[in-house]
Amino acid sequence: MAYETIDVRTEADKVGIVTLNRPKQLNALNEQLMNELGEALKAFDADERIGCIIVTGSEKAFAAGADIPAMAKYSFVDAYKGDYITRNWETIRSVRKPVIAAVSGYALGGGCELAMMCDFIIAADNAKFGQPEIKLGVIPGAGGTQRLPRAVGKAKAMDMALTGRMMDAQEAERASLVSRVVPLDKLMEEAIGAALLISSHSLIATMAAKESVNRAFESGLSDGVMFERRLFHALFATQDQKEGMDAFINKRPAAFANR
Ligand code: HXC
Repeated sequence: MAYETIDVRTEADKVGIVTLNRPKQLNALNEQLMNELGEALKAFDADERIGCIIVTGSEKAFAAGADIPAMAKYSFVDAYKGDYITRNWETIRSVRKPVIAAVSGYALGGGCELAMMCDFIIAADNAKFGQPEIKLGVIPGAGGTQRLPRAVGKAKAMDMALTGRMMDAQEAERASLVSRVVPLDKLMEEAIGAALLISSHSLIATMAAKESVNRAFESGLSDGVMFERRLFHALFATQDQKEGMDAFINKRPAAFANR
């Protein structure tokens, strides 16, 4: 499928890479981009060759947020009915394969929320994160007030949401918003390396690990631990478990068949 606001490519036939591409608007997230991103993510999720997906932007901007001119004249009814504000923002959550956000430059508003919807964030040293919606007379609308405190705690989340200030990559790493910070020119190498490593594992176990970690944010500890245990038990029904453990015992690399 031909896209206009994103670029799509694969790496080593194993990693799907979606690059947001509205450079003149710093990758502001308009309806077309959100639709195309949703389509591309669903296509990679369904593609049997692909074991991990990367979402990235440009050096200057991962995404500077929802498209402000597109929203500026919205009434309540437009916002409530208008699919653009909600549709496809949640698509990324329905993707069952791992999704890495490789963030350089600005990740603001919906851009920060999009990055946080991914499974983890690898940041370039020039990355800047923020929820500046308060300066526009609104608040985050795609999970920022919910995912940010879960990631960085109440103090920093309140600070960011109420002041609208930006957090640089170093602060974001200290606050656990991002898993790694690398020099800008190493960002894609690092993200692709992580994605290839993830793709080399059993896809079944990988999907189970993702599902189980995500469960931690939806349940109490006892329920979450029980959920994890059931998935752990279920993995003993897979050929990949036999292969992984046999490979360890026989000191050879595992060759997972995703069965
Ligand atoms: C549309 C945007 C944009 C945005 C930047 N641009 N952000 N267009 N929507 N969110 C456009 C600018 O209008 C400008 O176009 C061009 O990109 C370059 O931006 P500049 O401001 O000239 O660049 P710079 O001075 O380097 O400043 C970069 C910036 C600033 C700090 C990122 O652009 C900025 O503050 N942007 C807005 C960030 C923001 O408020 N995001 C939250 C949006 S609300 P022209 O044509 O003038 O050159 C949101 C809610 C999510 O995200 C809700 C989800 C449901």
